[in-house]
Amino acid sequence: MSADVGIVVTAAGSGSRLGYGVPKALVPLDPSGDIGGESSLFALALRHAQLVDGVRAIIVTAPSDELELFRSTIARLGIVVPVSVVSGGPTRQASIFQGLKALKQSGPLDVVLIHDAARALTPSVMMDRVVNAVAQGAPAVIPAIPVADTLKQIDPGIPPSPSGARRIVGNVDRGVMRIVQTPQGFAWDVAWDMHSTFAERGMDEAQAASDDSTMAQWAGHEVVAVEGDSLAVKVTTATDLALARVLFAQNFGTRS
Ligand code: CTP
Ligand code: MG
Repeated sequence: MSADVGIVVTAAGSGSRLGYGVPKALVPLDPSGDIGGESSLFALALRHAQLVDGVRAIIVTAPSDELELFRSTIARLGIVVPVSVVSGGPTRQASIFQGLKALKQSGPLDVVLIHDAARALTPSVMMDRVVNAVAQGAPAVIPAIPVADTLKQIDPGIPPSPSGARRIVGNVDRGVMRIVQTPQGFAWDVAWDMHSTFAERGMDEAQAASDDSTMAQWAGHEVVAVEGDSLAVKVTTATDLALARVLFAQNFGTRS
């Protein structure tokens, strides 16, 4: 029997680094698509998320003044799993806690996936890997990929030169480092307890956890990594958007 899975798709951010002029989750990957339409980041993330084995409910966190646009697009996607839209909070962490509160209303769940709409092309097979690792007993699971670039360490205590150059003070063995993606998966009780415990920190960007597995570590849980996916790129900057549009054009419809 498969685990009962709930998914929170975080889409309440402003996208300040992307600078597109609309909340990032509304940006279309089809360059001729509508803002907030069926090729927007959140809609594509939902198309993949709905295919996860055992998914029972999905909550989308959205900017509070865009709830109707989110809801009308979702209604057109033909998703059979119940999908609800709630207002996000001041930080990603706070938004997710709002999502978990809404998910709690949808009945008992074994596993929760927490996924960034900004990783809109993440295939559902990768999400299934995360679910399976939680279902087999891991309290906290992250998808992760090896580092391709050489890594060097700077000394944050040494200011940059006038030209912006930084002194290199060490090498980092990239073989033991991983780049972390989403969705991250948690046993339901682990996700609920850690978000409840650290909710206050989540109200302040400087104190909030930048990802959920960090909170699991704060709470003393072991975190394990499963294989991520090169399609799970995060759209943060205009360069990332250009890449995601190429990947969308190449892959959409051929992988789910
Ligand atoms: N997010 C959210 N609520 C917030 C902030 C972020 O739900 N208060 C979501 C974003 O919508 C995104 C994910 O968390 O899907 C990852 O955040 P990030 O990439 O930082 O997105 P933004 O905060 O929108 O971008 P920026 O930091 O450039 O403003
Ligand atoms: Mg942000």
